[in-house]
Amino acid sequence: MAEAQPLGPIELQPQPKTVQELAAIGGKEVPERYIRKADNSGDGALDVCFPVLDVPIIDLQLLASSSSNSGEELDKLRSALSSCGCIQAVNHGIPGEFLVTLQELARQFFVLPSEEKKKYSREIGGIEGYGNDMILSENQILDWTDRLYLILSPEQKRTLKFWPENPESFREILHEYSMKLQVILEVLLKAMARSLNLEENQFLQQYGDQATMQTRFNFYPICPRPDLALGVKPHADGSAITMLLQDKEVEGLQVLKDDQWFNVPIVPQALLINVGDQIEIMTNGIFKSPVHRVLTNSERERTTLAVFCIPHPDQEIQPVEDLINETNPRLYKRVKDYVSLYFQYYQQGRRPIEAALI
Ligand code: OGA
Ligand code: NI
Repeated sequence: MAEAQPLGPIELQPQPKTVQELAAIGGKEVPERYIRKADNSGDGALDVCFPVLDVPIIDLQLLASSSSNSGEELDKLRSALSSCGCIQAVNHGIPGEFLVTLQELARQFFVLPSEEKKKYSREIGGIEGYGNDMILSENQILDWTDRLYLILSPEQKRTLKFWPENPESFREILHEYSMKLQVILEVLLKAMARSLNLEENQFLQQYGDQATMQTRFNFYPICPRPDLALGVKPHADGSAITMLLQDKEVEGLQVLKDDQWFNVPIVPQALLINVGDQIEIMTNGIFKSPVHRVLTNSERERTTLAVFCIPHPDQEIQPVEDLINETNPRLYKRVKDYVSLYFQYYQQGRRPIEAALI
C-alpha cells in the first residue's frame, strides 16, 4: 500500500511518463530513478532463484460454519496468520468466472491507449485515479508499476470521475466485487477472533462501521532489467486486511519470512488475504503483517488488484485486552488515523508499525 496521502511532503511534480509509456520505448536499460540503490538492497540480489512460500489454503465456507470441521480450519487460520501473515482463501463464494472477468477488465483498461487512460488521471496531491508513483522527494526510487487507485466504499465516498467507463462493464463489475468482498471481510474478521478464542465481534467492533475499502489495480509492464528494478518496494500494508486478486499466470509477489524472500504462488481462483498493520496492532502482534515486495519480469506483463480494508481515521485501534497478560505484555499503543502515521514513517524509509510500539 504505497499510495500517499496528501500530507507530509508535498508532491513535487506529476510523473512525466507512465511506466507503461517508458516500457513501450523498448530500451534495454531502466532510467536511474527506478534503480534500487546499493544501500537499500541489503536484502540481496533479485535475479536469483527464490524458494516458494507455503501459503496455507483456507476454506472460507468452513470458517463461517459451525460444523465440527471448522475448528480445524480455525487452527489453520491462526497458525497461518501468526507465521507468514497470509492465506489463500478458497470457497469464498465468488464464482471463478467472475474473478476471470474482473482480471480481464483490469487488463483491458491498462492496454487502452494512453490518452484514454489519462481521462482518469490522478490529480497532483490526490490519491485516487490512474498514474504512477507520487514523487515526493528528489532522490525517491520509483516503482516499476502503474496503477489505478479507487475508493470503493462507503459508496458516497466514491469519486466516479476516476472510475473507467471503458471497458464498458468496469464500474458495474467493480461495484459487484466490492459488495462480495464486504461479506468475505466480515467472515474473516469474525473467524480471526474465534481462532484466538475471542468473542467473534472483537475485531469487527474495532474495525468499525465507518471503515473504507480502497482498491489499487496494479499493472507491471515488462521490465528490461528485473535485476535492478522492483515492481513495488518492500512494505507492509497499513490496512487492517488486504485482499489481493493475483494475476492468473504471472507471479511476482514475494513475502519476507525469517529474513528470507519467498515467492508467493498463484492458486487459481483464490484470494490472497494478508494481515495489515492494524490487525497486527489489534492482535498485539500475534498476527503478523508481512513485509512484501513485487519483482519485475522481462517477459510478461502482470496485473493484480489489491483491496485495502481500512478503519475510519477517527476509529481508535489498540490491542484487544483479552490478548494481554503477564506473559504477553502490551506491545502497541492506542492509535488513530494509522494511515497518516504510516505515510510519515514510510517516507522516511522506516517500518510504520514502529510508530505504534510502546
Ligand atoms: C500492494 C501490493 C502486490 C502485488 O498493492 O500493496 O503489495 O502483487 N501488491 O501486486
Ligand atoms: Ni502491499
